[in-house]
Amino acid sequence: MEIKSAKFLISNTDVAKCPSIEMPEYAFIGRSNVGKSSLINMLCNTKGLAKTSATPGKTELINHFEINEKWYLVDLPGYGFARKSKTTLEGFGKLIQSYFLKRDMLTCTFVLIDSRLPPQKIDIDFIRWLGSNGIPFVIAFTKIDKQSNSKTTSNIEIFKNELLKEWEELPICFVTSAEKKIGREEILDYIKEINLGLKK
Ligand code: GTP
Ligand code: MG
Repeated sequence: MEIKSAKFLISNTDVAKCPSIEMPEYAFIGRSNVGKSSLINMLCNTKGLAKTSATPGKTELINHFEINEKWYLVDLPGYGFARKSKTTLEGFGKLIQSYFLKRDMLTCTFVLIDSRLPPQKIDIDFIRWLGSNGIPFVIAFTKIDKQSNSKTTSNIEIFKNELLKEWEELPICFVTSAEKKIGREEILDYIKEINLGLKK
């Protein structure tokens, strides 16, 4: 899919104030610093659209971007950042929880997982929480440019095996690098297919 326009709409602390015009919505979530904002910029081919930082905790609000005047990308704050939240389930933060529980037009969630790390409890807990609340999601492994392909492959395998301990089926998984623009076509095509399906 071609990105013809990517426009910042609004930042919010209140889910009730998120855009009310109904369009398919895709949210990006994951631990602080995993690369959510960077991946959004890469998908949109626009540096600086979503604010990024080497310091965790950069994104603090719910940020809506309107793409091709037809669908939304949403950049969310990260979870698991010690200064703002505890590492327990409640550590996902009230804002994140209320977004996922109340945002009816959420079409699909991209859960970002750092491809360099062994499975992190908070990610597994968050994925379980999405599942138990019936929220549709896929996974995007990030930052694969930072290590060898074989390391990426083996880490992804370990993560999938961890998921299979409690899930019967694996979610759709994307492998990405914002730095090297890897995974862009795959993710945009996936979104395009869903958008087409919703029109029928
Ligand atoms: P918060 O908003 O703080 O939750 O973080 P975030 O998940 O939005 O991460 P962000 O996109 O701000 O990126 C965090 C850091 O990782 C930045 O220094 C990015 O440049 C870097 N980064 C993100 N994606 C990649 C990638 O694919 N490759 C490399 N090498 N660095 C990346
Ligand atoms: Mg961010």
